[in-house]
Amino acid sequence: MWNFDDPPSPQATNIYGSHPFYLASDKEGSSHGVFLRNSNAMEVILQPTPALTFRAIGGILDFYLFIGPSPMEVVEQYANLIGKPALPPFWSLGYHQCKFGQTTLNQTKKILQQTIDAKIPIDTQWNDLDYMARRNDFTLDTDHFKDLPDFVAKLHENGMHYVTIIDPGVSGGEPVGSYPPYDRGIELDIFMKNSTGQPFVGRVWNPKSTVWPDFLNPKTIQYWSEMIQDFHDLVPIDGAWIDMNEPSNFWSGQFNGCSISERGGHLNHPPYVPRFVKGQSLFFRNICPSAVHYGNYSHYDVHNLFGHSETVVTNAALRNVRPGKRPFIISRSTFPGQGHYGGHWTGDIHSDWDAMRLSIAGVLNFNMFGIPLVGADICGFNGNTTVPLCQRWMELGAFYPFSRNHNTLEAFDQDPVSLGPEVVKAARKALEIRYSLLPYLYTLFVHAHLKGTPVAQPVFFQFPRDKMAYYLGESQFMWGSALMIAPVLEEGPIHVNCYLPQGVWYNWETHVKSDHEEGGAFVKIPAPLDTIPLLARGGSILVLKPPAPTTTDSRRLPFHARAYVSSSGSASGDLFWDDGDALDSYDDGSGGRHNHILFNLTSSRDLQSQVRHRGFLAETMLLDSISIIGLKSRPNQVTLDGRIVDFSYSPQEQLLEVHSLNVDLLQPFRMEL
Ligand code: GLC
Repeated sequence: MWNFDDPPSPQATNIYGSHPFYLASDKEGSSHGVFLRNSNAMEVILQPTPALTFRAIGGILDFYLFIGPSPMEVVEQYANLIGKPALPPFWSLGYHQCKFGQTTLNQTKKILQQTIDAKIPIDTQWNDLDYMARRNDFTLDTDHFKDLPDFVAKLHENGMHYVTIIDPGVSGGEPVGSYPPYDRGIELDIFMKNSTGQPFVGRVWNPKSTVWPDFLNPKTIQYWSEMIQDFHDLVPIDGAWIDMNEPSNFWSGQFNGCSISERGGHLNHPPYVPRFVKGQSLFFRNICPSAVHYGNYSHYDVHNLFGHSETVVTNAALRNVRPGKRPFIISRSTFPGQGHYGGHWTGDIHSDWDAMRLSIAGVLNFNMFGIPLVGADICGFNGNTTVPLCQRWMELGAFYPFSRNHNTLEAFDQDPVSLGPEVVKAARKALEIRYSLLPYLYTLFVHAHLKGTPVAQPVFFQFPRDKMAYYLGESQFMWGSALMIAPVLEEGPIHVNCYLPQGVWYNWETHVKSDHEEGGAFVKIPAPLDTIPLLARGGSILVLKPPAPTTTDSRRLPFHARAYVSSSGSASGDLFWDDGDALDSYDDGSGGRHNHILFNLTSSRDLQSQVRHRGFLAETMLLDSISIIGLKSRPNQVTLDGRIVDFSYSPQEQLLEVHSLNVDLLQPFRMEL
């Protein structure tokens, strides 16, 4: 573990982030976790005993043991220590689109418009560093992106959002007085230093050279806030995409490398370098370990904290620039505690089937690391994607907690429309389901925020005593306790062999029931090319909205509830709702400006809601319809708060539907069947 600009791969090498934490489960399903709170380079060796060795080359040996005993409790206990996840703004749970190499605003506009015209739900447009002049932070290329302020204003009018990349390093090579981010950094003295006390100079995207703010310096909050504020005055961004923050360096060290003879030079060439560190050197495409941070810390000791500290500072800066609003941050480099301040995307993965499969492991790992807002570049980043791959990947990506399609400069456009009708159809269908699930997804994020509960979970988190669930690895996963996602991960198949643990499961689309009361089993589930198999777990109630072009539109539509009955005929669920963007929704001193509503269906066919907390009254919360799936017989009548209401019942589907309800969810209601 030594943060490094390299994408996740099955090989044991250092990648963007470091998380010295493990979760272990024994044969009986009891779990524990161990966290070594240490930011130095280290290797971790699995012994056959079984045992595990952490070998760190510096720092403190603070070990924390989490005794679970369930895997979920381990992760919650861990999150409780490192900081529970930030609550993302509601809009950020919509679909995002980006591409490196959109060198003019017209290209961005064209791709966005064709996506909207194809009726694919989309909330957020991103731009990569193409919008910058000379690839320098906090500048705008006025030749090619002159109209960006107008464009962003129009997005906002349409209830959409806009995010840009911000690289941590600023240019060190512009003429004095011509580039305020450099001059102001010198004035405030916030750049990371080399061993002679001068700004440490390396090179990233900038034309000549790069210097890095030291995010451990408290003054950097002022600096970073000023920089983001100045840019925001011009282009009102809604969030920050922070990249290259391992920090990555195109040079290995400074121009002349990292010397052993300089002050602190022994740290550049330590007697032992952890195994599998890329290039077998700590400064291979990195900063010299002898570089100096605020408080006289050597980069050697705090390197792994760079991305994390940048996230902390960016979070503070966005709070200054957008007062009262939740910061939205997606960072490449991470460390334990990151999730309290921002989310993560898994970096420059390849556009192939292996990377798509591995991305699920990434998403599940980061949910265990307390960073539930995570996703991979949908359809892959490096190399050209293909139609069959992108079709399946758009389906899977609709179920990443953070859902963004992005790819590299050299590759062709891979937004659904550019790839043709098959990809459009699959993307639209999967994203419409995602958008209808937004209230459920958001409720999961609130649980994550309040308790550390992962949003996307390995199946064994819900079924810790089921060995098969454990061995499923990343081939299937859950959203909370209620929804199983079983993607197609190879080219060709039009069904999945899906493991359904003990219980009753219902196909999301067809309502077909699989009864596994006797124990888990593999089931062949149809997966036509435009369909990702989804299964709802009997016993759950999910609150939904109809799909809409944006999350903003979706908030204006009434709610709908789906109850999936268990074998005993019961079901339960909950809904958190708030304005979706305020900082104080959960702790304004009076319990928070949010609503929390519980739903419970008993085996005697009595569905009741309970308003647990009522703190957000600015929006009406109308429940328009209720479906009960798995109801074995037609009721004689259905009453709502004592009044008889119309309903339909399909014996084949065991489906009861009640429409045009107009229930105010802020009052408890009771439906008897
Ligand atoms: C890095 C990022 C990638 C981005 C590129 C250009 O490789 O990981 O997402 O497109 O830089 O900014």
